[in-house]
Amino acid sequence: GFVVGTAVAGGGHHLSQDYPDPFTHDKEYRKILARQFSSVSAENQMKWDYIHPEKDRYDFGQADAIVEFAERNGQVVRGHTLLWHSQNPEWVEKGDFSKDELRAILHDHIKTVVGRYAGRIQQWDVANEIFDEQGNLRTTDNIWIRELGPGIVADAFRWTHEADPDALLFFNDYNVESINAKSNAYYALTQDLLEQGVPVHGFSVQAHLSTRYGFPGDLEDNLRRFDALGLETAVTELDVRMDLPESGVPTPEMEQKQADYYQRALQACLAVDGCNSFTIWGFTDKYSWVPVTFEGEGFANVMTDDFVRKPAFYALRDTL
Ligand code: XIL
Repeated sequence: GFVVGTAVAGGGHHLSQDYPDPFTHDKEYRKILARQFSSVSAENQMKWDYIHPEKDRYDFGQADAIVEFAERNGQVVRGHTLLWHSQNPEWVEKGDFSKDELRAILHDHIKTVVGRYAGRIQQWDVANEIFDEQGNLRTTDNIWIRELGPGIVADAFRWTHEADPDALLFFNDYNVESINAKSNAYYALTQDLLEQGVPVHGFSVQAHLSTRYGFPGDLEDNLRRFDALGLETAVTELDVRMDLPESGVPTPEMEQKQADYYQRALQACLAVDGCNSFTIWGFTDKYSWVPVTFEGEGFANVMTDDFVRKPAFYALRDTL
């Protein structure tokens, strides 16, 4: 039941708009995607701004294509994401809706998107990044929580479960690999929701790591405490960025350090019973979001721009 996944690049976003979409156009990319992975995640194609660009218009084209590709290749799919502060379309963020209308909009979105893929998505990131670094709910930048109150989080889980009773429903966030204020907040919240009977099934760590910082050595312990609550756990967006070397080519030492991070993340997941899903955020540097997002950093994936396998690729393969 253990799956190894990757994000599927596409949907514009950090890739230039006139760049041909890799999932559709890059044959070599698709071949590796089909062969090396048993799970796929939509990097952008199921997010609000992509899939629901106007109030009365959904665009399922790319999401459908990913789900169909996965089925053809015997892969499972992680759905990402339903309730988030980021990548919401303007019509949502700038719309002049009453609370009742906004609630109906979220409910309708979940019913429509989750219902469309019911039975075909293994795990849904229902709520993404709802806490800040201090472990406070994002009550200002998350429109749903700000306008509808914290109870909307439980409702999102309930609505998702109604639309697809087979999917495993997750909280997902970054900087929660360690035991810290933010992961503690998830620990308390999931405990509370489970006591109330809310259909929460999993807690996942994105794991956007950087060699600038040490490896989160307590990752396994952290996953274990969620496991002990009866939750599934997962690593969902692993990449390991590094400072761009002046030469443009990372040294063997840097590549080795990166490989160690990848391997340790996988080992932590493998060591925990309910950690059944391990996903890297893309496999090639060619389409990585990292250089566009983190100034001066890059080389975060397990293959180079030319799909050459790095030590990190072999470290994962040899650990499995
Ligand atoms: C990133 C994508 O990789 C980019 O293409 C996009 O421009 C921004 O979002 N946490 C998440 C992911 O949950 O959805 C984010 O993906 C990376 C951080």
